[in-house]
Amino acid sequence: MRTPLVIGNWKMNGTLASARALASDVAAALPQLAGVEMAVCPPFVHVPAVAAALSGSALALGAQNLCEFEPGAYTGEVAAEMLLELGVRWVLVGHSERRALFGDSNERVLAKLRRAVACGLTPVLCVGETLAERQAGHTETVVDAQLDAVLNASDAEALLPALVVAYEPVWAIGTGETASPEQAQDVHRYIRARLAARAPTLAAQMRLLYGGSVKASNAQALFAMPDIDGGLIGGAALKAEEFIAIGLAARARLAA
Ligand code: 13P
Repeated sequence: MRTPLVIGNWKMNGTLASARALASDVAAALPQLAGVEMAVCPPFVHVPAVAAALSGSALALGAQNLCEFEPGAYTGEVAAEMLLELGVRWVLVGHSERRALFGDSNERVLAKLRRAVACGLTPVLCVGETLAERQAGHTETVVDAQLDAVLNASDAEALLPALVVAYEPVWAIGTGETASPEQAQDVHRYIRARLAARAPTLAAQMRLLYGGSVKASNAQALFAMPDIDGGLIGGAALKAEEFIAIGLAARARLAA
């Protein structure tokens, strides 16, 4: 059984005070969520305050991005080593907002994955198609290219065991329009099959998360699908109660 995993991506939201409060409120609910792995990814500058608020808690800390280079002269960037030192364990790589707005190409995504794995961070590789790509019937081609960047890497054997993949259809992110459980399951099944062709044992163990307008009201139906092992949550992760309810929905997988 793959351990359900729910990660909150706070994106560029909040204040120092709201980040601390949100982290403490979620951490306080963790005893209800036994058996589910939970993590939050605050903005970089809030990471130290959130780390302090989570001290002693099993709520894990993640980051939304990292630099693809080793520490050095890269103005404005944050190295994997710096994140690790602050207690960060997870890192999102290749989020669609970074791909679309900040030029994170498949090549750069691979370089970031390598840095994350080399430093012992667990990367969450985000993949997903735009609405135009889905409507043109290109969902699988787009996801293939995003996955192949890693699967065809010379060091894929070293990268894959560490990886979690999040399928986040771009048209469902922040739009309120969620993929139906069946639509999401279809792509998750496809992703797992692609991974299985390369590494069958790993593919069976790897956690695949769904992201895109997940809320407390739709989480359980999504997480009831066989290949959806949890969620990567944006807007709904900014409200402790809602995020905790999503964690509880993931917990229902344990009883299934
Ligand atoms: P929303 O849950 O706000 O749609 O965002 C999803 C997401 O991008 C998580 O990384």
